[in-house]
This record gives sequence, C-alpha cells and structure tokens, in this order.
Amino acid sequence: MKQVFIKTYGCQMNERDTEAIRGLLKSHGYGITDEVHNADVILLNTCSIREQAEMKAIGKLTSLFQQKKRRDLLLGVFGCMAQHHGIELQKRIPAIDFIIGTEKLHHIADYLDRHFANTAVNPKGTIVDVTAEQDSQNKISTRDLKPGQVSAFVSIMQGCNMHCSYCIVPTTRGQERYRPMKDILDEIQYLIIHGVKEVTLLGQIVNHYGQGTFPMVDGKSPFVQLLEAIQGLDGIERIRFMSPHPVGFRHDLIGCFGRLSKLCPHIHLPLQSASDHILKAMKRPYSCDIFRQIVQRLRERVPDMAFSTDIIVGFPGETEEDFDKTVAFFDEIAFDMAFIFKYSPRSHTLAAFMEEQIAESKKEERQQVLLKTLERHSYEHNRKLIGTTQQVLVEGKAHRGESKFFGRNAHFRKVIFDGHPELIGQTVGIIIERASTTALLGKVLP
Ligand code: 5AD
Ligand code: SF4
Repeated sequence: MKQVFIKTYGCQMNERDTEAIRGLLKSHGYGITDEVHNADVILLNTCSIREQAEMKAIGKLTSLFQQKKRRDLLLGVFGCMAQHHGIELQKRIPAIDFIIGTEKLHHIADYLDRHFANTAVNPKGTIVDVTAEQDSQNKISTRDLKPGQVSAFVSIMQGCNMHCSYCIVPTTRGQERYRPMKDILDEIQYLIIHGVKEVTLLGQIVNHYGQGTFPMVDGKSPFVQLLEAIQGLDGIERIRFMSPHPVGFRHDLIGCFGRLSKLCPHIHLPLQSASDHILKAMKRPYSCDIFRQIVQRLRERVPDMAFSTDIIVGFPGETEEDFDKTVAFFDEIAFDMAFIFKYSPRSHTLAAFMEEQIAESKKEERQQVLLKTLERHSYEHNRKLIGTTQQVLVEGKAHRGESKFFGRNAHFRKVIFDGHPELIGQTVGIIIERASTTALLGKVLP
C-alpha cells in the first residue's frame, strides 16, 4: 500500500480540505502516514494569506527536494499557494510532481492512481491543474474522522465576493459558491452517526451562505435557515460558525442567539481595524460604529456573549492615531481572543501598491502593544470564572500530563482538568480553580 504524508498550512478551511483528501485517498487504497520517512507521496496543503505562510511551505519544499534526490518520492502541492503561483512554483522547485489548485483538490487521488499505474499523460513532467471547475464546492465532502472525534468542521461554501484591498483569498479561492442545504445536512447526519456532537460551519464569509442563490424564507436568510435546520438535528449539541462578516450580520442572524439553544454564545467577527479611515482604505464596507452596534445588539440578547476577532496592524497609511483607536476599541469591547496579524503585502492586491507602507519594526511594535492589551482582557475574562462551574464538552487528552483532559465551554474557552477517557464526548460540569490568559484549569464536579 502506497503511503501518503500530508502537511497542512493555514486556516480551518485547509484543515477541513486535508481531512477530505485523507478520506478520498483512503477510499482509493492509499495509506495515510504521520511519518515523513515512510511516505511514498508527500502533499503540502498550502496557504498564501501572508508571505510568512508561503515562506514556510517553500522552506519545507526545499528540504523535501533534498530527500527526493535520495529516494523515490512524489511531491505534490495543493491549496492556495498552488492556485496562486501555478507553474511558477515548479520553476522555483523543479522537483514538484503535482500542482493542484483549490477547485481541483478532489482529482488528487486520480492523478496519483494514474501515476502509479504509469498511464499518466505526461508521466515525467509536472502536472499542473489550477483551472476553475463548475460546482467544485460540492465535490470535496469525504470525511476521515479521528477515533472519538467530538467536534468537526463543515465547509458550507467556497470563495469570497469581497474585495478587501489586502486580501489574496478572492484570487485563490474564487467567487462565492454555496453547497446545497440538503448536502450539508446529510453530511452532518453522517457526523452524528459517527459520534460528533459539535459542528463548526466554515466559509470565508459564512453568513453570506446562499445569498442571491437560495431564497429568503419568512424574512430569514439561507444561513439562518441552515442554522435552524441544524438546531433540529438530534445528536448535535453545539453549533458554531466562522468567520462571519459585519456586513450581512442582520437582525435575523442576531435573533438566532438566545433563541437557538445549540448556537454557542461566542462569535469570531473579524474587525481588521477600529479606524474608519483604515477600514475605508481596506475596502471593508462598514464603520467601527456598525461593528459596535452588532456587538451591543448581541450582548442585549446574550449578556455574557464572548467575542473574538482578526486585526491587521501596520496596514499602509495606519497612523499612531488610527492604531490608538484599535487599542481603545479593544478596551471597549474586551475581546476574549484575537488573531493580530502584521500586514503582509500580497501580489495582485491593491494595498500592495499603496504608498505609506509601514516599517516592519513598527508593525512588530504595534502587534506587541495590541497583544498585551488583549492578554489583559483574556485573563480578566478567565479570572472571573474561578469558582464557577462550566459545562465542558470533553474533546480528548490534553498534552500536559497523563490524566489531563481538555474540552471547551460554550464560550469557546479551553478548559483542562483531571479526567478519564470515558468522559470524551460528554458534556461535564467542571469547577474552575485556576485561570491563565489562554485556558481554565479545574476539576470534575463530584
Ligand atoms: N496581511 C496580514 N493579514 C492578512 N489577513 C488577510 N490578508 C492579510 C494580509 N495581506 C488576515 C485578516 C483575515 C485573516 C484570515 O487573515 O485579518 O481576517
Ligand atoms: Fe479576504 Fe476580505 Fe474575503 Fe475575508 S472578506 S476572505 S479578508 S477578501
């Protein structure tokens, strides 16, 4: 049996794609290995969102190239970087055998089959397949759950129709395409049968699901209809989604919180900057005040709602005053968690050509300031929970020690406690005894 090793870079979407590819390859008779040295095929699922992500993959490819010189090995690249660079990648690293774009992932197994059957059209050359494919969003639904897996990602759409001036995603993942609701619900039924209790719906702008394609019903968007349908599925205990966009976060969606009992009281809502002037330059069509209003309306429905966000520091033209607004907004909203990125110029994006690019050292400085602000709030949120009992869906063993297990509360806070394997998949009460910025520590309620 040929063995395949897959390394994944980037976002949850990529993690989910890798899982689908594992399932697909297994169904074609391939083994999946965690040992790079045992592999006959090495595949990298890549990310282009920041230069650093691309550099990591290029570094890996270069070292794999050395291995390939020593033994018979197939090397494939798929995902955003394959889509973005296409044949250029092969010029840089000639050893690559497959370059497969984001709409062609589901052909990987066929390409490998053909290679090993030696019927490849061009067995000696690199196969580059980065063209668009009609309905590709419906073609990667295979699953490969880990034993005892409690929580699973479900991609409900592909692509993005926005034009944020810094972002390469619309180029690498194309226009928005939605999966039919029935296919998504069937997939979740499969997950339920296999023990999954929590689903996280994924999309570049997940709340745009079905927009302009599927009808509104009783004033409810297709996304809200989907949430309601999942709420009705026995076996699913928790529903999450990421990432929504402030544009399109309307009253029907806000009204789901506190009404749909399975919908968790945590939202990851990318803000990017709290300065309206920077949001405008980013081509993000909302103001800081609109974001504030969404948070307020959600907190009116669910007072202890947890919020996390994405921020880019050092966007071209960001002044000290702009940055100070973002810091002040962190104090106002008191985000639980945030991903704070240093702006990275990407080719084919408007922002890369803007004047007033910010020095790396300044980006670094701002990232550190914002991280410190965030840590203060994260710790404060967690500290307040000491002495409370949190309902935790137990996911598995923690890395920390033999008897340590971990799970999350509904607000997405990580909880670590002494437990045993039978607890995996159960929701248990944990009394919180200690807190750090990133986790809560406690013990099972006797
Ligand atoms: N530089 C830095 N961060 C970026 N992101 C997207 N593009 C860039 C870029 N060019 C961030 C945004 C987005 C997250 C997924 O990645 O914050 O929400
Ligand atoms: Fe990129 Fe903006 Fe689309 Fe998000 S919404 S994927 S940041 S273009």
